[in-house]
Amino acid sequence: MIIFKKAKQLSQYIDKQKNEGKRVGFVPTMGALHEGHLALVNECNKVNDITVCSIFVNPAQFNNADDLKHYPVSTETDIAQLVGHDCDILFLPTVEEMYPPGYVKKYYALGDIETKLEGYYRPGHFQGVCQAVDRLLELVQPHTLYLGQKDYQQCMVIRTLLELTGRNKQIDLQIVSTVREADGLAMSSRNLRLNKEQRQLANSIFKELNAIKENLYQYSLDELKQKANKHLAEEGFKVDYIEIANADDLSTASSASGKLVALAAATTGNVRLIDNIVLN
Ligand code: PAJ
Repeated sequence: MIIFKKAKQLSQYIDKQKNEGKRVGFVPTMGALHEGHLALVNECNKVNDITVCSIFVNPAQFNNADDLKHYPVSTETDIAQLVGHDCDILFLPTVEEMYPPGYVKKYYALGDIETKLEGYYRPGHFQGVCQAVDRLLELVQPHTLYLGQKDYQQCMVIRTLLELTGRNKQIDLQIVSTVREADGLAMSSRNLRLNKEQRQLANSIFKELNAIKENLYQYSLDELKQKANKHLAEEGFKVDYIEIANADDLSTASSASGKLVALAAATTGNVRLIDNIVLN
């Protein structure tokens, strides 16, 4: 695996590979890699000649300074895992390399998707995500971009970003299913910050999402959301939202018809977890 820290060198190398007819797939991450990230790398390897991964803890997308300060960093282990999973290129930029002097922060007109759910609880978050992803795509210019369904709304935001920037004409977006621990907890870098007790309870979010799925036609959508909310609150979670939404635009579903997704965000201790499942 070749590690690039400089944007220009990365672009030049990838350009050369593309000119030789190689297919390039890209997996952007913030590191502290786990099986969820590596599933994206595996998918990428299946159909591309070159798998590019990036690790960049993007300050622009953290609306909470404490969250950024505590974000786990494990670069050495990450590198070993990427080598073990046949990643070809790792881009490991500094903040200055990503946002060099003179870099002009863009505003992305993402529409409604920006301010609901995650966007409501993390103001500015999706603008920050777009800043990093737009810059990375400019440097890597992959044929295919791999994202995880774990961050359902982020996938929709980045799909919008691709359309806004016209990159959708060159880049195919592939969304990879959520990888879970044996007890159902969605893998996340933030899980490392859970203590034993919190870790034991953390899969309740997934259990409640599944309860919604199982009872979709037995109760009203409001009742289903209230039950899930109540159960999580009883277990000590601070629930930001439990939502049953239309899968295409994340608008609140008014009935159990059409393609739906259940999404949740809840905090245990001081660790905020998110998850979602498609309902039908
Ligand atoms: P990060 O949280 O490191 O996630 C990187 C990618 O891995 C995202 O596409 C995410 O959805 C995917 N992922 C995380 N956990 C997963 C799981 N359990 N199963 C499947 N995929 C999973 O998301 C980001 O970084 C950043 O916002 C980024 C897109 C890199 C922009 O900074």
